[in-house]
Amino acid sequence: MKDFKLAIAECLKSKIEDLTLDEIKELIEVPPNKDMGDYAFPCFKLAKVFRKAPNAIAEDLAKEISLTDDVSKVINLGGYVNFFVSKSEMAKEVIKKVLNEKSNYGKSAFGDGKTVIVEYSSPNIAKPFHIGHIRTTVIGNALYKIYDSQGYNTIRINHLGDYGTQFGKLIVAFKSWGDKSLVEANPIPELLKLYVKFHEVAEEKPELEDEAREWFTKLENGDEEAKELWQWFRTESLKEFKRVYDLLEIEFDSLAGESFYSDKMQSVIDTLNEKGLLQESQGAQIVDLEPYNIPPALIMKNDGSTLYITRDLAAAIYRKQTYDFDKCLYVVGSQQNLHFEQCFKILELMGYEWSKDLNHIPFGMVALEEGTMSTRKGRVVFLEDVLNQAVDKTREIILAKNPNAGDIDAVAKEVGVGAVVFQELSNSRIKDYTFSWEKTLSFDGETGPYVQYTHARCCSVIRKYGQDIDSNIDFSLLQDEGSFEVLKLVESFNQSILVALRKNEPHIITRFVLDLAQAFNKFYHDNPILVDDEELKKARVALVEVTRQTLENGLALLGMKAPHRM
Ligand code: ARG
Repeated sequence: MKDFKLAIAECLKSKIEDLTLDEIKELIEVPPNKDMGDYAFPCFKLAKVFRKAPNAIAEDLAKEISLTDDVSKVINLGGYVNFFVSKSEMAKEVIKKVLNEKSNYGKSAFGDGKTVIVEYSSPNIAKPFHIGHIRTTVIGNALYKIYDSQGYNTIRINHLGDYGTQFGKLIVAFKSWGDKSLVEANPIPELLKLYVKFHEVAEEKPELEDEAREWFTKLENGDEEAKELWQWFRTESLKEFKRVYDLLEIEFDSLAGESFYSDKMQSVIDTLNEKGLLQESQGAQIVDLEPYNIPPALIMKNDGSTLYITRDLAAAIYRKQTYDFDKCLYVVGSQQNLHFEQCFKILELMGYEWSKDLNHIPFGMVALEEGTMSTRKGRVVFLEDVLNQAVDKTREIILAKNPNAGDIDAVAKEVGVGAVVFQELSNSRIKDYTFSWEKTLSFDGETGPYVQYTHARCCSVIRKYGQDIDSNIDFSLLQDEGSFEVLKLVESFNQSILVALRKNEPHIITRFVLDLAQAFNKFYHDNPILVDDEELKKARVALVEVTRQTLENGLALLGMKAPHRM
C-alpha cells in the first residue's frame, strides 16, 4: 500500500536539506484532532539549522510545498506544517489492498523469520485451572498470534507446573484419604479437596510436611509408586485442561513443563559450581545476588531436592539449545517479578549472553469480590465455569432476540467465549482487577460482542447486496468524513499491530477493533448503503467489506471468532 507518511516526507525533503528522508519521516506525527489534518511535521528541530523561529519555518514550508496526487492541502499551525492527504487516493489504496489480501491484510514480514518463544498459560497439575490463569492464557495466545502475523517463527510453550514439593503433599493426602474412583470421576475438584485437607491437617500435625518432602524426594529419585501416582495426577489433570483449551481453541507446540527438566538440573548445578556461583547456606545451596540488590536464590534444599527456579534455569538453557530463539517471552503474573529477576540474573552470571533476550511479560492480579483467591483455602473460580456460563447466557440472549441466527450453539460459543477473552484483553496488562460475574457477562458498551455484532451487521449488508464486490469503483464517492474516518483506521491496522508487538500489549488491538467498530457504526447510521444509485451503492458496499475483513482479522489476532450472524 502506498505509504502516505513517506509521500509527505518526500514533499518535505525537497525543501529541507539538513535532514535525511528517514529522519523527516520519523518526525512526522498524527495531529490530536482531525480538523488539523492527517499528518503534521514539527519544525522545532529545524530552528537551529535555519536560524529562525519554528513558527516562521513552518509558515514558509507550508507556502512552498506544492500539492501532489497524495497531498490535497498543506497548512501551517504554530510550529507545525500540517498535511491533508487526498481522500480518494487513500480510499483507493486501502480498498484495493484489503480486497486483494483478504485474511492476510495486516500481516507483514517485519520479523524476518526470527524465532520468538511465547511461554504462557502454564497451569499447575492437580490444581484448578482458575480465573487467575485466564490472563496468561489469553494474553499469551494473542501475543503468539500477533508475532506470528508479523513474520516471526513463533513457538508456543506451556510450562506446566507438574513437579515440585506439592506433589509430595498430594501423594501423602491421596494415600491417607483418597479414593481412586472419586478422583477419576471428578479429578481436579477431588484432588483440590485432598490438597486443602492436607494443609488443614498439617496445621495440627506438622510431621505431615516432612512426609510430603520425603515423597517428593522419592519422586525425584524415580521411586515407582511415587512416579505412578504422579503420572496419574498429571494425566487426569491434563484431560480437564484440554477441555478449557478446546473451548478457547488454544494450542501449544510444546507441553514441556517442570517435570521435563527433572533430568536436566544436575548439569545446571554443575555449571553453577564450576562458575563458583553456588554457596552453602544452612545446608542448602544458594546463589548470592546481594551485589545486585536482589535477595539470594535458593537452588537446592538441604535434602537435595530442587526448586522451581532450578527448573527455570534448566528450561531457559534447553530452549536456547533447542530453538535458538531471538526472544523468549514469559507471560506470567507480576507476583513472580522477583523470581524472573533472579532467574535472568543467574543466567547472565553463568555467562549466557542471550539472557538479555529473556523477557518477563507481567500482568496484574485477579482478585475475587470476596477476597484474594486461595487454592489452599479452596477459594477459587474455575475458568471452565466462567466460559460455560458466558456461553449459556449468550444462548439465552440469542434465543430471545434472534431465534433464526443459524447454528445457535456455535454462535453462542463464539460470542460467549469471545466476551470473556475480549474483557481480559481490554485493559493494559499490568492493571490488577477484580473478577466480577456481572461485568463479564454484560454485553453492553465496549465489549467483544459489540465488535462481533458490528461484524455480523457488515455481513448482513453484504448478504442483502447479493453481488460480488469489486474494487473497480468511483473512489471519489468515499470522500465524506464518515467514510474517511473508517478508511483511515483500516489503513492504520498494521501500525497498531506493530505497536502491540513492540509493547507486548494485546489491548492495543482490542482498542483498535473497538475504534473501527465505532467509526463504522457512525458511518452506517449516517449513510444509507443499499441505495438506488448503483455507483454509490458499489462504493459503499466495498467500504463495508473492507471494514468487515479488518474486524475479522483483528478479532483473529485476539483469538476470537467473527460470526456472520448473531
Ligand atoms: N505454574 C506457574 C503458576 O501457575 C507458572 C509458571 C510460569 N512459568 C515459568 N517458566 N516459571 O504460577
